[in-house]
Amino acid sequence: MNIAVFCSGKGTNLQAVIDAIKQKRLKARISFVLSDNKSAYALVRAIKNNIPAVFIDPERFKSRKLYEDEIIKHLKNHNVGLIVLAGFMRVLSKYFVRQYKNRIMNIHPALLPSFPGRCAVRDALRYGVKVTGVTIHFVDERVDSGPVILQSAVKVLTNDTDETLLERIHKKEHILYPEAIQLFIDGRLDVKGREVIVRGVSSG
Ligand code: GRF
Repeated sequence: MNIAVFCSGKGTNLQAVIDAIKQKRLKARISFVLSDNKSAYALVRAIKNNIPAVFIDPERFKSRKLYEDEIIKHLKNHNVGLIVLAGFMRVLSKYFVRQYKNRIMNIHPALLPSFPGRCAVRDALRYGVKVTGVTIHFVDERVDSGPVILQSAVKVLTNDTDETLLERIHKKEHILYPEAIQLFIDGRLDVKGREVIVRGVSSG
């Protein structure tokens, strides 16, 4: 299956997907990496791995719809079956999400619905929770709200800082994201309302 990975920053999750493909843990092909940020290191990772790196400058477009139409053009040209958001800092509109319903995944560094938003790791630490984690979900028309695909817990340690906690969360993310993508590719994710049933996994 052709996938596209959208990133705005470092792209460590992109790297985890690239590595999983190389190690044949993930049977996918990355058609292109898209960024809204010219200096995203994710674009360098793409180039280093011979994957087309596409920077589309949102500033060039008069409206969000025109910007998203440009992205859709790329997706259609490459016959992309799944969009993987990996630190993409732009909210996709209803118009876009409706066209790719249940074909856009996102990864969030907390156990949703706790701590949505951009500062999830910091917010969880400030709140004083003992457990936080990682959520992979389908993207719906609201931010950090779509049906949950996989979650994994990460314990908060007494002396954790934003950095140390983020490091352990990243480790979990890098394992979980390729797994979720493979489940999608294998056709094992059934979305029923808010619930994602992972076929072949008992719920007990
Ligand atoms: C990850 O922590 C992810 O949960 C969040 O953005 C971060 C992206 O990190 N959505 P990276 O660019 O993959 O290193």
